[in-house]
Amino acid sequence: YGTQAVNEKGHLTIGGVDTTELAATYGTPQFVYDLALFRERARGFVDTFEKAGVKAQVAYASKAFSSVAIYQVAAQEGLSVDVVSGGELYTVLKAGFPSAKIHFHGNNKSLEELHQAFDSKIGCIVIDNFYEIEQLKELATVKQQKMDVLIRVTPGVEAHTHDFITTGQADSKFGFDLSNGQADEAFQQLYQHDFLQLKGMHCHIGSQIFETEAFSLAAQKVVAKMAEWEKTTGFKATVLNLGGGFGIRYTEEDAPLEPAVYVDDMIQAVKKEAAAHEVALPEIWIEPGRSLVGDAGTTLYTIGSSKVVPDVRNYIAIDGGMSDNIRPALYDAKYEGVLANKMKEKADTVYTIAGKLCESGDKIIEDLTLPKAEAHDLLATFCTGAYGYAMASNYNRMPRPAVVFVENGQHQLVVKRETMEDLVKLDLPFTLGE
Ligand code: LLP
Repeated sequence: YGTQAVNEKGHLTIGGVDTTELAATYGTPQFVYDLALFRERARGFVDTFEKAGVKAQVAYASKAFSSVAIYQVAAQEGLSVDVVSGGELYTVLKAGFPSAKIHFHGNNKSLEELHQAFDSKIGCIVIDNFYEIEQLKELATVKQQKMDVLIRVTPGVEAHTHDFITTGQADSKFGFDLSNGQADEAFQQLYQHDFLQLKGMHCHIGSQIFETEAFSLAAQKVVAKMAEWEKTTGFKATVLNLGGGFGIRYTEEDAPLEPAVYVDDMIQAVKKEAAAHEVALPEIWIEPGRSLVGDAGTTLYTIGSSKVVPDVRNYIAIDGGMSDNIRPALYDAKYEGVLANKMKEKADTVYTIAGKLCESGDKIIEDLTLPKAEAHDLLATFCTGAYGYAMASNYNRMPRPAVVFVENGQHQLVVKRETMEDLVKLDLPFTLGE
């Protein structure tokens, strides 16, 4: 992946930096992000729209990994950012990110969060439900402040990996149903508002998707609806946001497409549908999360204990686990890994990589073939950049790992490892019983 290589010592390097040096400097578990790969992916999306001459915004779906530093790099690459909570919004603003390029999502935004969005003058709120319309109308009127908004719809296309299903009605907690009049009702409530400036529509059809047809189908349905509204009211939508969900390669079984392929097919579908209905081509916005940061991230762990279950399996245990990567336990997600300090040794032993959390299901990888592993070896697991740190927890009072960025032979700590002191900083002693 990316800039990974093996040096003369037989050590894995990322961004030209020896991973054993990273482990020694910042400790383990540690997330390492290869910035060159993040930038390459970002440019893959942005350049494809540019080459096609299509107005676009590529918004980093920062739920995949939110930190001040990644927002800074996203800004350098000219990305927009999608946030889904007051916490992400606070963080991206802390990073000095241009507020006009922030989009706010969520199916239950609090009044406080909406205030925060107005006060920081973000670029766009993606409206999810009728309750939110009411709240926003009131807020915008009280504040006498304009805000661009999109209507989020469920287009009845649901995709996951290679499969997608289309249904008349989507059973989803997000958005307005496109087929049963809800989306039309939302449109009626919004399109003539003085302060809420309706720009268009949004849909998101799933995650870790490996084909383009589902996006095209969703695009068709949404553009058709925009055209219908234009015919009946004269309202011209200028933005179509098709969400994220572009797949990445966790293991050899995954066969993702290049960013350019997803984007090109999407553009074709939108162009075709817009032409068929004789409406202008809208700006196309997308929201990739996993495909920007997923394979840029590697986790480094130190191996400790081991256990042989005769004739069944060899366990080796790492100094992290489901507290820094919940995905195997939660989704049965698969990962690849290597012994980063023994890259030139022959891999001849099959291991199950166990985490150190108190739960039998805390295994990061099953049946991984490695060189003979011993205590103090360094295990690297790949493609952990999305929904790894972001979904990390303090289960068992595990401190959250350090996060380090590498690029051009240099490395920098961008999120400190939590300390023991951090773990108790919100705790208060109980005194009523004294
Ligand atoms: N836009 C919206 C509205 C979304 O709901 C999501 C993801 C994205 C964009 C970004 O999708 P991506 O490009 O990252 O696939 N925790 C799960 C993934 C949950 C995705 C939720 N929504 C996992 O670890 O696989």
